[in-house]
Amino acid sequence: MAHHLSPENKHSNSSEGRKDHTGEQAKVKEVRCEEFAAFASSENLSSPLHVPTPPPVPATPISQFGTLPEHLTPVLRPRRLRTTPVMRNLVAQTRMTPGQLVLPAFVRDGIDTPHEILSMPGVFHHSLDSIRKLAVDAVEAGIGAIDLFGIPREEDKDPYGSAAWDDKGILNRAIAAVRAEVGDDLIVCADTCLDEFTDHGHCGVVRKDGVIDNDSTVALYCQMALTQAQAGAHMVSPSGMMDGQVAAIRDTLDENGLSETALMAYSAKYASAFFGPFREAVQCSLQGDRATYQQDPRNRREGVYEALLDEAEGADIVMVKPAGYYLDVVTEVAQTSELPVAAYQVSGEYSMIEAACAKGWLDRRRTIMESVHCIVRAGADIVLTYWAIEIANWLRDTGMTNRN
Ligand code: PBG
Repeated sequence: MAHHLSPENKHSNSSEGRKDHTGEQAKVKEVRCEEFAAFASSENLSSPLHVPTPPPVPATPISQFGTLPEHLTPVLRPRRLRTTPVMRNLVAQTRMTPGQLVLPAFVRDGIDTPHEILSMPGVFHHSLDSIRKLAVDAVEAGIGAIDLFGIPREEDKDPYGSAAWDDKGILNRAIAAVRAEVGDDLIVCADTCLDEFTDHGHCGVVRKDGVIDNDSTVALYCQMALTQAQAGAHMVSPSGMMDGQVAAIRDTLDENGLSETALMAYSAKYASAFFGPFREAVQCSLQGDRATYQQDPRNRREGVYEALLDEAEGADIVMVKPAGYYLDVVTEVAQTSELPVAAYQVSGEYSMIEAACAKGWLDRRRTIMESVHCIVRAGADIVLTYWAIEIANWLRDTGMTNRN
């Protein structure tokens, strides 16, 4: 018995414990040793046994003590790969490059100078002139695409949004102007939706009973997409969430000799409160909501279903929107679809971060970079973000190293 309780023996047990990274055995021994010492020295025994004194309990807690007991010393140390910026960059599992970023941009009829959008500080309503300059900045920054949204004059809005497919409408003039400026150095993408152009603000035709009529709306989208492609858009992007919109637009383009025009489908687009600042930005006339055509934010599988439908209908790129609060949908669509996946970091995601940064509550650059890296980490190949040019320039500042 005395032999079993000798300190050498206890030590050899404790290094056995360390080998399997548990230390379990060593702890058990120690307790037994103390208990036995107490028992042996008590009045329970007529002639007390000689037992070794248990090792003293350290008076200071481990953190001040300096060293860990051997059996708790880690062998696996992930911190080795976090030591310096170069090391962290070497092992980073997500890379972001300017070429995968898309800048959404607004062009407004009847203005000569850019107007800053109140709820989106740093984002502007552009004139035809200033949108060309913005497109040049986008080329210089090396981003992949510009996604153009048009804002017509109030008097040009009507129940069908006809300014949307008028080749003299603001969006189609902007597409032509930007394409003339950038050629093929930047993908010129157009938003293919009627909400900015209708006097009621819905994304389609409103029937007498108040329902947004799916099929007649799709017919208007086809007309709109055709005009956009003819104006010079490399890519159209239907965002109205009408059923069958992708197949119908693809067919229209192909029938009109525009089979080279790409189609980025807003596939999983949710009826999100995070579009709030955008609605102000496009001076949307909407009363009510879009819950009968955009998806319910509570649905994940439905987002995958919508993306697969768009893929089957001939989309070239599928999109999830919004992005930051929908990363599970981004991941699942990326795992399921064979197509490139885009994610749209929407106006509300932008404005929340800008507002908190303006108050000094968040570090602006770190927060922006984290928010977009996380979208890429979730599986997005392409990110639409109002910070596209700024992020591209930061990536360039750091010598394209991606170092944070
Ligand atoms: C609809 C459209 C919306 C956005 C882009 N296109 C949303 C909507 O009003 O339902 C949102 C973009 C953003 O919030 O940044 N044509």
